[in-house]
Amino acid sequence: MLISAYVLLAASLLGATRAADYPFDLTTLSAPDGSITAKFVSFGATMTELWVKDRKGKPRDVILGYDDNSQLLTDPAHPVFNPIVGRYANRIRNGKCHECQVTLHGGIYGWDRRNWTIVSRTRTSVTYKHVDNADEGFPGVVTAFAKHEVSNGGVLKTTVSATATQKTPIMLTQHIYWNLDAFQDGSNNILNHHLKVDASRVIALDSFALPTGDFINVTNSPFDFRREQQIGARWDNTVDLCGSGCQGYDHAWVYDNDASRNVGTSLWSDLSGIKVDISTNQPATQVYTSFWLDTPRKATHGGPSLSYGRWSAVAIEQEGYLDAINTPEWGVDQIYDPSRPFFWSSTYKFSTRP
Ligand SMILES: *[C@@H]1O[C@H](CO)[C@@H](O)[C@H](O)[C@H]1NC(C)=O
Ligand SMILES: *[C@@H]1O[C@H](CO)[C@@H](O)[C@H](O)[C@H]1NC(C)=O
Repeated sequence: MLISAYVLLAASLLGATRAADYPFDLTTLSAPDGSITAKFVSFGATMTELWVKDRKGKPRDVILGYDDNSQLLTDPAHPVFNPIVGRYANRIRNGKCHECQVTLHGGIYGWDRRNWTIVSRTRTSVTYKHVDNADEGFPGVVTAFAKHEVSNGGVLKTTVSATATQKTPIMLTQHIYWNLDAFQDGSNNILNHHLKVDASRVIALDSFALPTGDFINVTNSPFDFRREQQIGARWDNTVDLCGSGCQGYDHAWVYDNDASRNVGTSLWSDLSGIKVDISTNQPATQVYTSFWLDTPRKATHGGPSLSYGRWSAVAIEQEGYLDAINTPEWGVDQIYDPSRPFFWSSTYKFSTRP
C-alpha cells in the first residue's frame, strides 16, 4: 500500500502518469483565501479560466477561452487563448535571424500548440515542461519550464525559464485575452475598460507589421496611456492603426521604468470594479484590441450562441522588443546559449475599485 502510493507519486512527479484527456488535462489552482482560482491545461501550458471577485464579491471568469479545451488545437481561427507563446513570439522579418545565421521556417507549431508535461503540482502552483527540439528551424534544443502560481490577495504569477544547447533567439510571451466584466451586465466589449501603460514610446511598424527601428512618441497621440484612458476614448483616431481596415490597437509599448519594480500596465472596468495591475521583468507590453476575433464564447460568457467578436477583449502580453534580432540599431541581445538562460516573469495582481 505504502510502496504503491510512493511509486504512483514518483511516477506522477516524473510526468509518467498522464490523465486520459492529456494534453487537455485540467489543473485547478486556488489561493487559500479564495480570492483567485485559475485553471490550466498541459497543451501550451495554457490558462483556460481565471476567476476573481468583482466589487460585490461575486467571482467572474475574466479571460476568454473555450468550453471544450481541445478547441485550442482544432479551432481554425486559432485566436491563441492564453498559452505560453515561443520560442520566438510575434513576427520575424522574412523568417530570418541574421545574427544567428539561420532562416527560421518558423511558426508551424509554436510552444502554444505543444503538449507540455506536468513536472510538479501543488494546490497553488503547477509547473509544465516543454523540450523544443529545434523542430521549427531554430538552432539548438531549448528546455522550458513554465510555472503558474496563485496566492492570497488575488495574485497570479507566471514565470518561464528556458535553457538552450546552442546560440538561439528566444522571445516569449503569455498571450492573455482579458475582459474584466466577463460579458455580464450587458457588456460586450472592452472599449470602456480603463488602461494605463507606463510608456512614452511605441514601436513603429511598417505595412508588414514589422518594426521600422523607430519609435512613436505617444505625446498627443491615441497611444498615450501614461495617464489612464478608456481604451475607446480616442477610438475615431484608431482607424487603420492596427493594419489596413483594422480599427484599434496592436502595438508594443516600451516601458519607461523597470516594470518589475513598478506596475507596468493596469486595466480595470467601472462595471465589475475589477482591476488588474501587471508587473514584469520584460521591457515591453503588446496591447491588441482583438479586431479579428470570431469564436463562439464560453457558456459562462453567453456562448455558444454568442461569439467573441471585434473588441470583445484586450490581449496584453509582456514581452521583449519584437523582431529585435533583425533590428540591430536597438542593440537588444535576444540570443541565448547554455551560459545565458532566458527568464520571463509576470505578476497579475487583482483588486476591486469602488
Ligand atoms: C499532442 O496531443 C495531440 C492531441 O491529443 C495529439 O494529436 C498529438 O499527436 C500529440 N503530439 C505529440 C507530439 O505527442
Ligand atoms: C515626445 O514629445 C514631447 C513633446 O514634443 C517631448 O517633450 C518629449 O521629450 C518626447 N519624448 C520622447 C520620449 O522623445
